[in-house]
Amino acid sequence: MPSLVEPDLANLDFWARPQSERDALFASLRTADGPVYCPLPTGPGFYALTRYDQVAEASRRPDVFSSEPTSVSLVDPAPTVREYSGSMISLDDPRHARLRRIVSRSFTPRMIQKFADDVTALAVRIVDDLAERGPCDFVENVAMPMPLRIICDLMGIPGSAYGDVIDATTAILAVGDPDYVAPDGTSREGVLGEKFGILHELMGELGRQRRERPADDLVTALLHANVDGEALSDIELKRFFSLLVVAGNETTRNALSHALALFTSNPEQRARLLADLDEHLPGAVEEAVRYATPVTWMRRTLTRDHTLNGHTYAEGDRVVLYYNSANRDDGVFKDPYSFDITRSPNPHFGFGAPGPHFCLGAHLARREVAVLLRELFTRLPDVHATAEPVRQRTSFINGVKSLPCAF
Ligand code: HEM
Repeated sequence: MPSLVEPDLANLDFWARPQSERDALFASLRTADGPVYCPLPTGPGFYALTRYDQVAEASRRPDVFSSEPTSVSLVDPAPTVREYSGSMISLDDPRHARLRRIVSRSFTPRMIQKFADDVTALAVRIVDDLAERGPCDFVENVAMPMPLRIICDLMGIPGSAYGDVIDATTAILAVGDPDYVAPDGTSREGVLGEKFGILHELMGELGRQRRERPADDLVTALLHANVDGEALSDIELKRFFSLLVVAGNETTRNALSHALALFTSNPEQRARLLADLDEHLPGAVEEAVRYATPVTWMRRTLTRDHTLNGHTYAEGDRVVLYYNSANRDDGVFKDPYSFDITRSPNPHFGFGAPGPHFCLGAHLARREVAVLLRELFTRLPDVHATAEPVRQRTSFINGVKSLPCAF
């Protein structure tokens, strides 16, 4: 009988350790004979799925691996949290499919192509600003404004609300980081309630305006969406709006920051990219997303007993799909610890594994990262990080708080 391995993956101190130490633990977990179980201080613990094939199966079988009651938290959400945050990422079909159908048309490559010029114009402005400013924090001045302005434009959010939006989305995903908790010690639920409240209020206000004066933006489209003769309710709109701004900001920003750090520590890969941007840019984007894995995990809950890799998980068991670990699985990726922009094929799970919840914004994110890297490396080919990234204290996101850069 293989023995149970019990690493403390819920401990945020572990996630603050250097990348090499985190990688070493996951490498050992991938070769463990038995299941990997992580106890939690309160309530039931969870099993860690660390191998590529395990993560693939859990994503492919939503009938067994449910996204309800949550896919984004190790503990079950309090009813109040579920009320304002329970969007499609934490729902199963048919409710998930219904919501996804309404919005997926806005995220196809053809639709993304429609505002390609806006993405390029924004990248030019950001790099103009960087060139004038000189050495500065890359996160604040480059990686953060790119997805923030794109997602806000897409939704029709005015510039006056940018500060509130980024403050809310950052705190929602890095809720365990003391920097984002109010000094009065507001609880996790309190922080989530306050920040989701800000986003819901913004959606409410935009909704009122767009009902009176429709515009060419996603909020107007969502207000008028009608699937199977049924429109989105007010609360569904607010939850969905919150999901999109959080998912749109907190992932692409970190992909961009990690990309700069990676091209700094791998000068031969930078030289290769610069030698032929057209040829290597798509591969560079995929490899940056694989290597950085901006979203570390998603959770599922077993709907019934199920055997996977020789272990029978019981109905109600929680499993966590570690994309960071699947993306380092040497059964799939040759030399997984090297950053190689020519890696081909590169079937990484940075945007999730194939399944109904595969990242809705993947086309948009790829375009944002590619366009910004092209502009950046064409105009400032020696731009580089001058220190290690300061990382967010969270297990969910591979988040970068700051990254000084120079050129
Ligand atoms: C590099 C950038 C990004 C990364 C690494 C990323 C990663 C992910 C991951 C891992 C998932 C979960 C997949 C699963 O559970 O199987 C996801 C879902 C999702 N992402 Fe992204 N994402 C990125 C950018 C974006 C952008 C720009 C948007 C929107 C503007 C977006 C919207 C969403 C939505 C709505 C979902 C939920 C889909 C569903 O439940 O059906 N993402 N993303």
